[in-house]
Parts: sequence; structure tokens; C-alpha cells
Amino acid sequence: MLRIAVLVSGKGSNFKAILEHITAGRINAEVALLLSNVPAAPAVAIAREAGIPVWAKSHKDFPSRAAFDEAMLDAMRESGVDAVILAGYMRLLSPGFIRAYRGKILNIHPSLLPAFSGVSGGADARDYGVKLAGCTVHFVVEDLDAGPVIIQAAVPVRDQDDTPTLMRRIHSLEHRVYPQAIAWFAENRLVAEGRVVRLLPGVDEPAVAAVIADGLPALVHPPLERGF
Ligand code: GRF
Repeated sequence: MLRIAVLVSGKGSNFKAILEHITAGRINAEVALLLSNVPAAPAVAIAREAGIPVWAKSHKDFPSRAAFDEAMLDAMRESGVDAVILAGYMRLLSPGFIRAYRGKILNIHPSLLPAFSGVSGGADARDYGVKLAGCTVHFVVEDLDAGPVIIQAAVPVRDQDDTPTLMRRIHSLEHRVYPQAIAWFAENRLVAEGRVVRLLPGVDEPAVAAVIADGLPALVHPPLERGF
């Protein structure tokens, strides 16, 4: 079974959704370690409550980004981690970290990449006035939010939306597409050919017929399988 590390800095709603799918047996993986650069983050409390091993230290107590990332790598190696899931981890990873787990680090971003990369993708999309917003799960490379795309979900932006209402809609989709992407990864069904990620067929799981996010139709591709 795939042993994953989850990296968090904040609320942990994606982490919680991932845990629920693992518990339900829909993701063939186990959270071997939860790591955070914000020891007081709600996500850390979720992990402790679930009995998941936690490594939580402030990056401010380390001399450099590389030193902090090295300490995370040490902890991950000790826990026998195979892959890394970024779930609201609000720090850039050092090249050394990315090299150590190349092709095995996934991230979720609240925009339809490559539009609106960076720390406030959802708010930036809203301010720009796009009519479709969404989220993207991608492999992590050295350049920010620029790795090969695994799955994307698009939702309408209504005239009356402000950033919180739009983010609520995007989050409700994140909680479905991220567990799905991790499930595919854990089943070895994602094949990256250059920038293009191909999804290998699974055991005949019918797709979810229609995806509704916050009462509005959403478009998800590749389609979500049953249970996600
Ligand atoms: C999400 O919007 C995700 O796209 C971004 O960080 C946020 C994390 O939220 N990378 P949560 O901590 O999972 O609630």
C-alpha cells in the first residue's frame, strides 16, 4: 500500500476529505506522516485526532528553506514515505526536496492552470472577471504551479459572487477531485509523457453522471469515478 506524507499549513479541509476516502477504502494508501510548517494549524489537530503521526515545526526555527526541507525529508524517510501530497502547504519546496520525490509529489491549486498560479489563484480569477473558475491537481516540478496536469474541474462564476462564495464552490470540488487524483496515483494509473498525463483504464468503475458544485453544474475531466 502506498505510504503518503501530507504537507499542510492551514485549515486542512482537503486533508480531511482525503482521510475520509482512505477510511472508506476508496484510496489504496495510508497517511504515514502529516507534516506542517505551522504547528498550530487546524490541519495538525485533525491529524492528531485521527491518530496519524505528526511532524510539525515552524520553518522560522531553521536557518534556511533547504535546512527545513532536509529535516522534513529525514522525517519522511524514517516513516517510509513513498509519495507526497501537498494540501494547502503554503511554502515553496526547495529543489532538493523535489528531486528526492520527483514525479511523486502532487498539489492542488484553486484555479484552472496555467491561469492564476500563485498564492491567491481563486481570488485572482474572481477579480479578473473570468466566467469559469475551478481547480487543478498537478504533479509538482521546480517551477511554481507548472507541473503536468492530472485533473481539472471548472465551475461557473456568477455576477454576484465575491471571493468567499466562489472559493466555497471551488473547495467543494477540490474535496472530490483531489481524492480521485490520489486514488489514480495509488493505483499506478497515471502515466506522464512529457507534459501530458494519461489516465490508464481502471476496473470498469462507472463515471459520476453529473457533478454539481454548490448548486451549479461543474465540468470535471477526466470524469470522476463512482464514490468521488
Ligand atoms: C486550497 O484552496 C488549495 O487549493 C490550496 O490551498 C487551499 C487549502 O485549503 N492549495 P485546506 O487547508 O485544504 O482547507
